[in-house]
Amino acid sequence: MNMAKRTIVAMPGDGIGKPVLEECIRVLNAAGFEADYVQGDIGWEFWCKEGNPLPDRTIKLLEEHKIGLFGAITSKPKDKAIAELTPELKDKGCVYYSPIVAMRQYFGMDICMRPCKTFKGNPLNFIRRGPNNTIEEPMVDAMIFRQNTEGLYGGVEWTNPPDQVYEALKTHSQFTKNFSWCPKEELAVSTRILSKKYCTRIIKAGFEYAKKNGYKAITICEKPNVVRETSGMMLKIAQEMGKNEYPEIAVWDTNIDAQMMWLTKNPEYYNVIVSSNMFGDIISDGFAGLVGGLGFACSAQFSESGVAVFEPTHGSAPKYADYETSIVNPIAMFMSAVMMLEYLGENGIAKKIENAISAVVAEGKVQTYDMAKMRGTADVINKGAASTKAMADAIIAKL
Ligand code: NAI
Ligand code: MG
Repeated sequence: MNMAKRTIVAMPGDGIGKPVLEECIRVLNAAGFEADYVQGDIGWEFWCKEGNPLPDRTIKLLEEHKIGLFGAITSKPKDKAIAELTPELKDKGCVYYSPIVAMRQYFGMDICMRPCKTFKGNPLNFIRRGPNNTIEEPMVDAMIFRQNTEGLYGGVEWTNPPDQVYEALKTHSQFTKNFSWCPKEELAVSTRILSKKYCTRIIKAGFEYAKKNGYKAITICEKPNVVRETSGMMLKIAQEMGKNEYPEIAVWDTNIDAQMMWLTKNPEYYNVIVSSNMFGDIISDGFAGLVGGLGFACSAQFSESGVAVFEPTHGSAPKYADYETSIVNPIAMFMSAVMMLEYLGENGIAKKIENAISAVVAEGKVQTYDMAKMRGTADVINKGAASTKAMADAIIAKL
């Protein structure tokens, strides 16, 4: 195929984001993915040096090239942020903000996909007891579609709300009944605002994915019996869309609390789950725990305008950041790159990398410290765990 060579914005960020992204690009190159990588500056280092953890030049790069591979960043509380600023910037009024949230909001990356899939032979897989004391290892294969911009993480909140807000709250009978005893100064209010447009987009994404991959149902995981307005809207949109546009796909509906219980009873029943921002965050962490945890949890986020960023869900793991040889598991990063390749239509290369990872995990000879169930310390390599690089080498050898 004669396609224009792609440019990927590589944003290593801080701590272990750097080694995992470096190894990821090595794997992509070895698998035959043809691309140029431009460095996107992001994270704590740029906050300290420039007073901005997401410099404009990085935004411009993403606007131009549309596709980002992101490692992880470090965030710290406000007072630490000011203390670590370079002296020249200390009194310039810089305010720290999360560059991930800012990137998400700037580009409107409203759709987040978090796959949780069992690799056969992964020692971290969830097991349960079956009939007659047998041990069962269910094959989990779930894609969680999380609305990424609204709901409880939408940021519309107050402590001691302004008068207009307080007056408006008082127009609600439940508020008067349950909260009018409390002085306004002692109230904290976080809102959960959903819009029909973005509910529709995340639900549609779930249906399309189910259709493309031949799944017979999607599950809307909310709490419509209690959070009637917002969860209710999600469920209603899904049921109508199902009836009108995807009659062959069933719409299941679970409550977030019950879903967390079913997760450990029958996680293999669920293939496509659609949820709002916080519930989606919770379910995807829960599912990730069944298939290996942070060393395996990958994600993708997309916007309407075609900007897409692929990243492991783990953070910068500062305690391992300064190890001479990086010990962390790069598979979450590699699987994020597999999602990128699928998004770009490079399904052959995506499969090749995924198969190579599967083969290394199944063989069980090369395992990072988490897979080998060791405590993460600098001497795990001497005890037989694979380094980040050794894991990448083993995967490259299987390509
Ligand atoms: P973390 O994900 O960085 O680390 C938690 C623990 O999980 C680590 O100490 C390590 O034991 C384990 N772990 C994480 N990634 C691993 C990997 N690839 N392989 C093996 N073990 C792994 O979360 P933590 O400690 O809560 O936060 C550290 C920093 O990262 C903070 O500054 C936080 O704000 C930031 N953070 C950034 C995120 C991002 O960039 N997307 C997400 C979460 C936290
Ligand atoms: Mg989370």
